[in-house]
Amino acid sequence: AQAAHEAAFDAAVAAEERIEPRDWMPDAYRASLVRQIAQHAHSEIIGMQPEANWITRAPTLRRKAILMAKVQDEAGHGLYLYSAAETLGTSRDELLDKLHAGRQKYSSIFNYPTLTWADVGAIGWLVDGAAITNQVPLCRCSYGPYARAMVRICKEESFHQRQGYESLLALSKGTPEQHAMAQDAVDRWWWPSLMMFGPPDGESAHSAQSMAWKIKRHSNDELRQRFVDICVPQAQALGLTLPDPDLRWNEERGHYDFGPIDWTEFWDVLKGNGPCNEQRLDRRRQAHEEGAWVREAAAAYAAKHGEARA
Ligand code: 3HC
Repeated sequence: AQAAHEAAFDAAVAAEERIEPRDWMPDAYRASLVRQIAQHAHSEIIGMQPEANWITRAPTLRRKAILMAKVQDEAGHGLYLYSAAETLGTSRDELLDKLHAGRQKYSSIFNYPTLTWADVGAIGWLVDGAAITNQVPLCRCSYGPYARAMVRICKEESFHQRQGYESLLALSKGTPEQHAMAQDAVDRWWWPSLMMFGPPDGESAHSAQSMAWKIKRHSNDELRQRFVDICVPQAQALGLTLPDPDLRWNEERGHYDFGPIDWTEFWDVLKGNGPCNEQRLDRRRQAHEEGAWVREAAAAYAAKHGEARA
């Protein structure tokens, strides 16, 4: 029976069919999806912190309203993704416990500080831009609930990217001080944004299997290159430079060549030694404790009214 299940699963993946929660799937496929979807969800909720840092200090009511909407969207993305992970038989509590205990990751990018208002624009343009480049292919992921969550998230991510780009453009065309602030933010966020796509293909532990299962549709380096090719003309339109002297168009390749990434920094941040790792997890644990009363109230209400746990 196991062999029959495996053959049916392999045939479904090969035929570009969606695997759904009630379908048989290899344990390793299930485990890798829980790993990736959980860490994707963790990234969304931790990602609220660097931006929320500027909500009370946004320069205008319009910028404040846009930023609040974006931070609320990120929370919603986290909830979609935790729900997608729960369809694989894991619980949200379990995933959050692993995050709080440092046993599951979140995207390295959120371990950097947001030092000025321009960082909010740089995050929208670069971080959400990178997220879109990574997430559009995931709309074709073989696991149904994850792919469908991505379709909705990508629509909202596009707004996040556009508002960031527009905010940076306003600063770039503003006073010399505003232009300098936008350039400084791009200088600090460019290389960490390239690291969001993961280690080089040769050092990617999961890529081969993830691509065989059609979870990952393009390699880390392929999407990183796609992102660089998108950003170079956008930086020119912004009147800002990218902090890479090796960046240049390569006619034969049909892509931009770019300089070496500091992978020591990448692995260091993953090990927990980034500028904000401790602060992000402390804040996350504190937020979880502060929210305990809401969970208890919801559970009491559900128990009293006999509904299945919400
Ligand atoms: N930050 C933290 N960990 C990373 C990472 C990064 N930038 N890149 C890779 N890793 C981890 C992997 O999770 C894996 O560790 P694990 O075994 O403990 O999970 C290890 O480094 C080796 O990397 P691999 O390339 O072998 O791992 P994957 O095949 O999973 O590829 C990935 C990494 C491309 C990030 C893939 O997991 C993925 O596409 N994830 C979904 C997208 C995602 O998580 N995006 C977060 C971006 S932030 C965001 O979306 C918020 C936005 O709205 C602002």
